[in-house]
Amino acid sequence: MPTVKATTVSADDPQTYEDAHVHAVYDEIAPHFSSTRYKPWPIIAAFLSSLPAGSVGVDLGTGNGKYLPLPSERPGSVWTVGLDRSRNLLQIAKQAGEREREVVWGDVLDGPWRPGAFVIEQDELSKRSIPAGADESCDTEVRVPLGKGQDVFVPWVLAHPAAPKPKASRRSKGGSQQIPEEKAPERKEEAVQAASKVFDRYYHMFAQGELNELVTEAAGEMGLQVGEPKSGSAYGVQIIQDGWERSNYFVELRRWKQ
Ligand SMILES: C[S@@+](CC[C@H](N)C(=O)[O-])C[C@H]1O[C@@H](n2cnc3c(N)ncnc32)[C@H](O)[C@@H]1O
Repeated sequence: MPTVKATTVSADDPQTYEDAHVHAVYDEIAPHFSSTRYKPWPIIAAFLSSLPAGSVGVDLGTGNGKYLPLPSERPGSVWTVGLDRSRNLLQIAKQAGEREREVVWGDVLDGPWRPGAFVIEQDELSKRSIPAGADESCDTEVRVPLGKGQDVFVPWVLAHPAAPKPKASRRSKGGSQQIPEEKAPERKEEAVQAASKVFDRYYHMFAQGELNELVTEAAGEMGLQVGEPKSGSAYGVQIIQDGWERSNYFVELRRWKQ
C-alpha cells in the first residue's frame, strides 16, 4: 500500500497543475495502472446488471475499460462508451474483454454525454483537482456533474485508501492528497538496472457525508428536488443507495420526471 501525503497545491495555473498531477501521470503509468485494476467493483457490476437491455451510457474516466464488457451475464445487452483523458489508457480500454469497444477521448468536466444516458463515474472524477483559490491548501473546489437524463448516475469517490470504515458518529476531514504510484519497470531486463519510478498522483480524499452533500448541492443548482418522485415537482433525483465499500464512498442516483 503506498503512503499518502497531504499536499499544498500552488495553483497559479490550475490547469497546468491538473495536467501534470492527474493526466500526465495516468498516461505515464497506464500499463501498470491497468494491470492492477482488472476486477470490477461489485456495486458497479450490480448496477450494470440492473439496467434494461438496450441501455446506453458512458463510463467517465473509464481507465482500462473494465466495465465496458458488463453485464457479464448478458454480454452486449448494455452499450457503455468509455471516456477518458488518458490516450494510453483508452488504447487499453479499446480492447477491454478482448473485443473492440467504443471509447472516446474527452474531459468529464465538459459534460460530454447526451440526455438520458446512464453515467458511471468513479474516483476522483467527482471533483476537480484544483483548489478554489490559488493560495489555499488542502481545499478543493468540488463539483458533481449529475447525469442529464432520467437514468442512473453512480459516482464513486475515494476516501482514504487505508482508512478504516468510518463510524457514523465520527466525521473525518477530507482534503487534497497525493498518492505515490509506483511504476514497475516494463521489461524484466530493466528490473536489474532500473529501480521502479514513483509518481505522485493527485487525489481528493472525501470526508464522510461530503459526497451526499455535494450531490444535494449539485441537484439544487440544477433545480432538482432530492427525494422520491413527488407530484407537483417536475424534476428530481432520488438516492437509491449510498454507502462505503472498499475504502470508497459511493452514491447511486436516479433522475425522475413527473
Ligand atoms: C482512478 S482511475 C479509475 C479508472 C476506472 N474507472 C477504474 O475503475 O479502474 C481515474 C480515471 O479517470 C481519468 N480522468 C481523470 N480526470 C479526468 C477528466 N477530467 N476527464 C476524463 N477522464 C479523467 C484518468 O485518466 C483515469 O483513467
